[in-house]
Amino acid sequence: MYTLKELQELISQEISNQKIGREPYTLYDPINYALAAGGKRIRPALVLLACNLFSEDVHQAILPAIGLEIFHNFTLLHDDIMDHADIRRGNPTVHKKWNENTAILSGDAMFIKAYDYFLDCESPNFREILKVFNQTALEVCEGQQYDMEFEDRDAVSEEEYIRMIELKTSVLLAGALKIGALIGGASSQDADLLYEFGRNIGLAFQLQDDYLDVYGDVAVFGKQIGGDIVANKKTFMLIKALQLAKENDLNKLNSLLDNDLEKSKKIESVTEIYNKLKIKEIVQKEIYSYTERALKYLDQVSVENTNKVELKNLAEKLINRAS
Ligand code: IPE
Ligand code: IPE
Ligand code: MG
Ligand code: MG
Ligand code: MG
Repeated sequence: MYTLKELQELISQEISNQKIGREPYTLYDPINYALAAGGKRIRPALVLLACNLFSEDVHQAILPAIGLEIFHNFTLLHDDIMDHADIRRGNPTVHKKWNENTAILSGDAMFIKAYDYFLDCESPNFREILKVFNQTALEVCEGQQYDMEFEDRDAVSEEEYIRMIELKTSVLLAGALKIGALIGGASSQDADLLYEFGRNIGLAFQLQDDYLDVYGDVAVFGKQIGGDIVANKKTFMLIKALQLAKENDLNKLNSLLDNDLEKSKKIESVTEIYNKLKIKEIVQKEIYSYTERALKYLDQVSVENTNKVELKNLAEKLINRAS
């Protein structure tokens, strides 16, 4: 069995070997720039950890693991255009450093490169693995579409929010685990249990991301704080605040959503209402509850419990993260 740390080193090493140095540099430089900026590399780690539950040969999963990380980075290039985000991982976003058209096209090239890595995977379950990847990629688009549509809608329910983050975020963590499990030779039952584990840690993960978007520290989070508030993102926190706010606060919150206020003023005022309503505590509870649910699925996977420690630790680390 490998430790998470060992697998993360393997991933960093492999990704830093992937530099594409060819013309036109304006297409490939942004790709290298995005991949070199690091990030937590959670998705490839999940692929390798899941594979390692069933096989000592984690190297057979390395190419799809990198493919998924490249796919994830591609979604970020486009997401940052959609969200008008200026910084990521502490650096200017690709559309800011270059321009929007470059970020669109370099993103497209990354999506194609992601398939290249999958193509080189020699697993006997290749078709099933590719199917999981395709379904996941399409669902991410669906989730991103809902995320944008919700910005302009007044009422979004908790269920709609959860379904939206399941699509835009959870399925990729879930898919990473399932792909790793299939490469490692897991039974379909175990692969599905790991998918459910990932789906639930993914929900906790996006709730934590939304939480950090309000309460994080820009120097650690690496992204602008308050972006979700400025964009009227219907996060769990906003949905809860709209449910709990009474009279004055509710009127104030609704007018903050309607007005074209100066950004920092809007962030400050909405955060004040969140503080008053103790939204921080409510979202943290929710994050723990999804993680608990996730761990119940992991418990049922038919391998020795001692071999699940790294995945369990990762799930717990993710909800205590600040970046
Ligand atoms: C950012 O993902 C997008 C979300 C789904 C919240 P990560 O938080 O995994 O980003 P990096 O790769 O570590 O920067
Ligand atoms: C990201 O959600 C989901 C995808 C990129 C598919 P966010 O928009 O919350 O991610 P960040 O906060 O920009 O990383
Ligand atoms: Mg987004
Ligand atoms: Mg975003
Ligand atoms: Mg976010």
